[in-house]
Amino acid sequence: MRNTIVHQGAKYLEYEIRQIVDYGYALKRNFGIGMIWENIGDPLAMGEKVAPWIMDIVKELVADNRSWAYSPSRGILETREFLSAEIDRRGGAKVTPDDILFTNGVADAVDKIYDLIRKDDRVIMQSPSYPTHSSNEVKRGDYEMIQFHLDPNNDWQPDLDEIHLKIRYNPQVIAIALVNPDNPTGTVYKTEILKEIIDLARRYGLFIICDEIYAHIVYNGQTTRHLSQIIDDVPALVLRGISKDYPWPGSRCGWIEMLNRRQDPAFLNYTNSLVTTKMMEVCSTTLPQMSIPLVYGNPLYQDLKRDRAALFEERGNEYYEFFRQVKGVKVTRPEGAFYFSVIFEDGVLDDRQTLPITNPEARRFVQDKAAGVASDKRFVYYMMASEGICATPLSGFHSGLRGFRLTTLRPEKDKRREVLERIRQAIETYIS
Ligand SMILES: Cc1ncc(COP(=O)(O)O)c(C=O)c1O
Repeated sequence: MRNTIVHQGAKYLEYEIRQIVDYGYALKRNFGIGMIWENIGDPLAMGEKVAPWIMDIVKELVADNRSWAYSPSRGILETREFLSAEIDRRGGAKVTPDDILFTNGVADAVDKIYDLIRKDDRVIMQSPSYPTHSSNEVKRGDYEMIQFHLDPNNDWQPDLDEIHLKIRYNPQVIAIALVNPDNPTGTVYKTEILKEIIDLARRYGLFIICDEIYAHIVYNGQTTRHLSQIIDDVPALVLRGISKDYPWPGSRCGWIEMLNRRQDPAFLNYTNSLVTTKMMEVCSTTLPQMSIPLVYGNPLYQDLKRDRAALFEERGNEYYEFFRQVKGVKVTRPEGAFYFSVIFEDGVLDDRQTLPITNPEARRFVQDKAAGVASDKRFVYYMMASEGICATPLSGFHSGLRGFRLTTLRPEKDKRREVLERIRQAIETYIS
């Protein structure tokens, strides 16, 4: 090649949730080590069955010729009308159908949102952070990330003074990004905290990026608000999708709610560029968009939403009760989504700890792979080879905390118990 081709930011792209899978496959291929995958947040891959009434809606749509066609670039008008009416019913920001933009999943929305921000402008975001957000932010330039920290010793809530000071002393910050309810912590931002973040955005002329893909999975007595309900006059982009709700991650269907677009000419210009980019891509997936009013508008959806939240509450509590008995780690009771993070206490990990691996070649392979990696990734590498269980190291979420994330998606109780016991065994042996 006459030049180096690759974008300077490509070296920053990281997605540990899936990258760790390559290592797991290598263990299987080279040494016949089987794996229980606890790393990917796909309810269907973990065994959840789609509700038959949703399946029927989709089957009928498949038989409709229109579902095979391109759709308008912004998204199907009837669906955008349905969603803007829903936002209106909840009260708060006024959103017209033209303020909604469909994308091929929230991940696609995230990609576009960060891509179209000027190179030298920065987004402050939470740590731990879902890597699609953080990798997209760092890929734009050779900068240190600007992060605020969710505190595992304070129910994973952020420190507002930290956010304030970082915004104040980094004038290049133009937006604040958060995920509510959160992946990987399972926390829910309290309404008062969200309001304070909105106030900071107003005070410093920033916009907010709020990923609400898990907005329908809140439990353990928690309540939070959609950003649109409390945003008042501050510009914001809210990300929603059906991957985790129906659930239908293979639909690749999500949307951006552009709140208070006309409040500021620079924000209007920026959101217009999001729409133009989508136009160049022609459109997003048609059939899933057609299904949205039929599914969310169906009275059965309210039952499904309630039942699934109750299910994840039960499992979240099960994981919490289990891990709080385990020495060397700390955990927080989750309040939303279907993730559970286990944090190692300070100082318990070092780079000499190991787990038994019987095959000497496999042992050498792991030693090699584990050399020089973050201490939580090292633990996970050993756990995968020794116990055949894959979790996602927390360092993969652009976090300085050391721990790992599990999903609470596994439906079979016995299997869940077995997995938890084996992880406990791995932790105790590793740090003993
Ligand atoms: C916080 C968050 N945002 C976005 C996504 C991706 O969503 P989608 O399937 O709509 O691209 C995920 C997937 O796990 C997620 O956890």
